[in-house]
Order: sequence, then C-alpha cells, then structure tokens
Amino acid sequence: MKKVISSRDNDARRGEEAKMDVLEAIRNRRSVRKYRPGNIPNEKLEIILEAARLAPSAANRQPWRFVVVQKEDKKQALAEAANNQTFIKDAAAIVAAVGDPDISAKWYEKDTMIALEHMVLAATALGYGTCWIGAFNEDAVKSLLKIPERAKVVALLPIGVSNETPGPKPRKELPEIFFKEEWQSLWC
Ligand SMILES: Cc1cc2nc3c(=O)[nH]c(=O)nc-3n(C[C@H](O)[C@H](O)[C@H](O)COP(=O)(O)O)c2cc1C
Repeated sequence: MKKVISSRDNDARRGEEAKMDVLEAIRNRRSVRKYRPGNIPNEKLEIILEAARLAPSAANRQPWRFVVVQKEDKKQALAEAANNQTFIKDAAAIVAAVGDPDISAKWYEKDTMIALEHMVLAATALGYGTCWIGAFNEDAVKSLLKIPERAKVVALLPIGVSNETPGPKPRKELPEIFFKEEWQSLWC
C-alpha cells in the first residue's frame, strides 16, 4: 500500500541525515579548537539553525536572534574581538547568539543559551565541530555586526569541519552533583 506522506513526516525527514541520536551527540560533543577549510552545505546549516529555532523559551517568547557570519574578513575580525582566539576564524561559520531583553527581560540570556546548545548538538550530530566562545569584547562584536545597543551578545559559536579529535574533559562524579530527594542526601 502506498504510504501517504504527511507534513509531519517531511519535518522528521529534514533531520534524517543526522545519523547520531541525541544521546550519542551529547556523548560525542567536544569543544573543537582546530578547524580545516571546508564549507557547510546550506541544507546542513539550515538543519543546525532550525534546531535553535525549535528550542524552548520562557512563555515561548523566543528572545534570541542569531547573526551567521561566513565572510572571511568578518570571521577574522570576530576572532580578534574574541580576545584573539584565532582558531575561530577557520570555522566555516561563526554564529553570534544575541538575546533581546526587550522581548523577555528575565529569560533572554538563558533562553538564548538553550537555543545555542540545540545548535551545538545538531552540529555534532551532523559531524561538525563547535566551541562555545564566551570570551569576547561585546562592544567590538556589536559594532562589527551592527547589533543594537539594547541587545546582549550571549556567546559566539564557530561551526566547522574539525581538524582535531579532542578527548573527553573530566567531569565531576555523579554523587557530587546529584542528590536524592534533598540537598546533600547521597544519590547512591
Ligand atoms: C559559556 C561558555 C563559554 C566558553 N567560552 C570559551 C572560550 O571563550 N574559549 C574557549 O576556547 N572555550 C570556551 N568554552 C569551552 C569550555 O572551555 C569547554 O566547554 C570546557 O572546557 C569543557 O570541555 P568540552 O566542551 O570539550 O567538554 C566555553 C564554554 C561555555 C559553556
């Protein structure tokens, strides 16, 4: 029998190339600080951007905006604005994640960070490297990208073809961070 394809099927299919499931992406993700030349095909970039668009936000206000930078001279200038973290200029794209307090005064930063991490996991699932960049001169980034005064640049995110395979960084052990029922009651 011929299967009727619904728009929901089509939505699901857009992410089909993502071979990793979300748990694999969480486990495989690393901060990548070496990129080699190579573009991200538009259809893949769109899957990554879509992951941010679908993120949850307080009262569904979606106070995020993202400036996607792919021009070489602008990536270079962003790397300088990011305290000379030169590796970011080698990424195929640098996303400036911007929160707007006029849209959600209380949650704009947190919501924007959630959306950016969605992007990170989607990029990982598609085989691209990323690195959260929190160290940058906000005024310099704003003036470079014509971001309005009231908005807050929450982070930069290089996305590109990884040229390194970093191992996992240490994490606190589970009993140190999880409690059972009440503060400091041992999880196990
Ligand atoms: C909010 C935030 C800001 C960060 N800023 C930078 C940064 O400016 N430069 C950098 O190289 N890494 C930055 N990192 C990456 C962290 O150093 C990295 O996540 C941490 O060392 C753990 O390593 P892993 O991501 O490979 O697991 C940042 C991470 C976060 C979440």
